[in-house]
Amino acid sequence: MASCLSVLLLLCLAGAVSGQLSPTFYSRSCPRAMSIIRAGVRAAVAQEPRMGASLLRLHFHDCFVQGCDASVLLNDTASFTGEQGANPNVGSIRGFNVVDSIKAQLEAACKQTVSCADVLAVAARDSVVALGGPSWRVLLGRRDSTTASLALANSDLPAPFFDVVNLTASFAAKGLSQADMVALSGAHTIGQAQCQNFRDRLYNETNIDSAFAAALRASCPRPAGSGDGNLAPLDTTTPNAFDNAYFTNLLSNKGLLHSDQVLLNGGGGATGGQVRSYASRPSRFSRDFAAAMVRMGNISPLTGTQGQIRLVCSKVN
Ligand code: HEM
Ligand SMILES: *[C@@H]1O[C@H](CO)[C@@H](O)[C@H](O)[C@H]1NC(C)=O
Ligand SMILES: *[C@@H]1O[C@H](CO)[C@@H](O)[C@H](O)[C@H]1NC(C)=O
Ligand SMILES: *[C@@H]1O[C@H](CO)[C@@H](O)[C@H](O)[C@H]1NC(C)=O
Repeated sequence: MASCLSVLLLLCLAGAVSGQLSPTFYSRSCPRAMSIIRAGVRAAVAQEPRMGASLLRLHFHDCFVQGCDASVLLNDTASFTGEQGANPNVGSIRGFNVVDSIKAQLEAACKQTVSCADVLAVAARDSVVALGGPSWRVLLGRRDSTTASLALANSDLPAPFFDVVNLTASFAAKGLSQADMVALSGAHTIGQAQCQNFRDRLYNETNIDSAFAAALRASCPRPAGSGDGNLAPLDTTTPNAFDNAYFTNLLSNKGLLHSDQVLLNGGGGATGGQVRSYASRPSRFSRDFAAAMVRMGNISPLTGTQGQIRLVCSKVN
């Protein structure tokens, strides 16, 4: 009996120190956590479908900067400048109010138990599901950082003018493969982008469908500064459905961003083959996207006694 208990204790300790995440992390400590997050996401997406895209992107922008530690949610303070003012984020990332509202409900149900980093991971999955995409088991037990990094947000997030080599390198720096990069780029089957992020493509590139480009030019004038923030859907075909249309669009040169369209022909074969595969077999995209999301969610989490469980996601306790 005593030895049984000590084996159990050892197993628990091993789990805590090995930094492993677990799908059942909150099943005893906060059994309602998953349903609270799901309900919050569903309501937000029902009100505005784009919010599903915005929440999915928040998790990505969190994980690529210091790991999945909710650093993206921290406001600037006297001791550090946060990530929200970084080039890829400023005037672009959104969804903070939804996260704050979900977190307030979690605090009411189970005080200081569910991390903001886990809220982002679960909200990303629930957003994809709410828009008709695949589901997956989210691994849990991440803790929240006590700092954030403007510099890392600027250096570690990929830019829309990147070519395949640069995209691949920025994912490799996070332990993700080129195949993961292509699968995860399929997130651009939902959501919107601003003119300033696709203007060069409209006026300078030749691998773009001419009618598609002409229509976009109408609301994205050439001179920099005018209409910079005007929005267009990343997936022109089914903007609010999480499907494989992102990839079929690429086959007809209707990718919105440079970094989208280069996946078809800019990858020396491999990325193009993967694009064609996902365009013809939606189930492969679903399967690979879900698996890649789990890998992205595993990027350098804080676990055990590292970091903290924030009470309010936008500030350190
Ligand atoms: C492959 C490299 C990537 C690049 C260069 C990139 C770049 C961008 C850019 C420039 C925008 C538009 C931002 C704006 O104009 O305000 C955007 C939007 C978006 N990105 Fe990415 N992204 C990449 C990968 C990803 C990944 C891995 C995910 C998630 C798994 C993702 C999810 C999204 C979503 C959902 C939106 C729309 C957000 C909204 O409508 O609020 N992106 N991305
Ligand atoms: C963080 O900044 C947002 C936007 O300015 C603000 O609404 C929120 O109250 C701030 N959070 C804290 C804890 O001050
Ligand atoms: C992409 O990577 C190549 C090769 O390393 C490099 O020469 C180029 O400057 C990079 N481009 C961007 C936009 O970072
Ligand atoms: C297109 O390319 C030219 C030459 O490289 C550059 O000067 C210009 O800023 C680019 N963008 C647009 C919108 O014309």
